[in-house]
Amino acid sequence: MGRIVLWISPLLWALSTLTTPAAADSGGVIIVVPPVSTDTGIKQIPDAAHPYVAPGPGDQRGPCPGLNTLANHGYLPHNGIASFEQIVNATREGFNMEHDLAGALAGFAMVEYPIPSLRPAFNGGNAFLDLVSIGGTSSWIPVLPGAIDGPNPPGGISKHGRFEGDVSMTRQDAAIGDNVNFQNSLYDELLLYTGRFGDDSPITGNGSIVTTKVMQEFKYARFLEDQVQNKALQYHVGRLTLSYGEAAFVLNFFANGTDGTLSQQTMGSFFRNQTFPANWHRRSTPGSINLIGTGVNDILSAHPVSPGANDANGVYVLDAPLNVCSPPYYNLAVQNLPASYNNATGILAQNVIEGNEITTVSRRACAGSKGGYVSRDVLGANQEMYMISL
Ligand code: HEM
Ligand SMILES: *[C@@H]1O[C@H](CO)[C@@H](O)[C@H](O)[C@H]1NC(C)=O
Ligand SMILES: *[C@@H]1O[C@H](CO)[C@@H](O)[C@H](O)[C@H]1NC(C)=O
Ligand SMILES: *[C@@H]1O[C@H](CO)[C@@H](O)[C@H](O)[C@H]1NC(C)=O
Ligand SMILES: *[C@@H]1O[C@H](CO)[C@@H](O)[C@H](O)[C@H]1NC(C)=O
Ligand SMILES: *[C@@H]1O[C@H](CO)[C@@H](O)[C@H](O)[C@H]1NC(C)=O
Repeated sequence: MGRIVLWISPLLWALSTLTTPAAADSGGVIIVVPPVSTDTGIKQIPDAAHPYVAPGPGDQRGPCPGLNTLANHGYLPHNGIASFEQIVNATREGFNMEHDLAGALAGFAMVEYPIPSLRPAFNGGNAFLDLVSIGGTSSWIPVLPGAIDGPNPPGGISKHGRFEGDVSMTRQDAAIGDNVNFQNSLYDELLLYTGRFGDDSPITGNGSIVTTKVMQEFKYARFLEDQVQNKALQYHVGRLTLSYGEAAFVLNFFANGTDGTLSQQTMGSFFRNQTFPANWHRRSTPGSINLIGTGVNDILSAHPVSPGANDANGVYVLDAPLNVCSPPYYNLAVQNLPASYNNATGILAQNVIEGNEITTVSRRACAGSKGGYVSRDVLGANQEMYMISL
């Protein structure tokens, strides 16, 4: 059944583009995925062409210390408004993030949509203009053509309940505090755990090396804390996986590439100052989805946490298991994408339907060939069957 949809959909798409008036495409940009780069070795970052420049009043910054740092050094546009291709390029150049991982994250940031309880509301980016804000709403990023997704302009990656979610490391849960900007009190907690569980170093000090053990204990403590403090806690499988993934990002992307260790001082440069430390080198091999997936499993293994959400009484209720090839992928790419993309035409349709590069790259996030597509067919009524049967 799923296969039939797969074969019919290009025809439906061709018919719909035939009837699209050209004017609707005015200003639209076809999303480009850069080729896989061969420039993926160790190197000192930043180079002379990318000094730190503090963000000005109009510049967007948000909940991601990696993207904030890249924008502060001009690897991303300094105003914090970026295209899919710019994000893939910049995360490789600055951090040696592997092509498909960067593509999946950038693609999701572009098209992400609120969890059901927050709808209707804002998209993350504008997949018609190929622009997303690494902070909040921006006058550079208007509503989608024909306001097919409602009247609100895209909210950027800061908007709660899409990519941004609960149990972050250095940002508070949206329901109880500032979910966008760096929070000293939470970071102090991370430093405390580093001191207690971290490794010793003759150069940076005893208890100064941030390890998997530190993240195992810190992430679990943050979860327990939020479960008590945040009655509205939402920790569904997509967010849970991303939040542990972000802990794995810290260990794998912030570490000094020369020896792969991460000192507390280096971590502070990224989190506190959002700048590359002096004499820092990016990792020596591309950091891939598999690497981060292994990191997530390692961190979770010490204190397993299952997906769920707090009920009205603040009791954590586990989610029913999702019988799909990849629950995180399904939760993020299918359950959290707007069904209104089904109504897309022209350039927007090309950017969000099957066969488009965003969808192709994102699809690889699902193990094997069972990914399903972020397409308007998948987003239609048969989406679950399609995901399971392919
Ligand atoms: C490729 C595109 C990327 C996108 C779209 C992206 C987006 C985001 C978003 C939306 C968050 C907030 C999630 C939350 O609620 O905690 C976040 C957090 C985070 N990101 Fe990124 N990110 C990207 C790349 C990177 C890279 C390259 C790094 C590291 C070098 C990185 C490191 C982190 C870390 C450590 C956090 C967690 C912050 C915290 O919990 O306090 N990200 N990212
Ligand atoms: C991204 O990098 C590729 C080379 O890997 C380059 O050809 C392309 O122009 C870059 N794109 C942008 C938007 O900088
Ligand atoms: C660091 O720990 C070692 C033992 O692991 C100890 O000998 C040394 O004195 C400690 N250094 C400092 C500065 O506390
Ligand atoms: C952050 O910046 C401040 C002010 O420039 C500086 O004093 C501090 O050492 C920096 N911290 C880190 C960890 O780089
Ligand atoms: C990274 O490692 C190299 C080689 O050990 C060292 O010279 C450099 O100072 C380190 N950089 C940071 C930021 O720790
Ligand atoms: C598609 O557009 C039609 C007509 O405007 C509307 O009734 C329908 O709700 C839209 N579908 C979605 C999924 O937004």
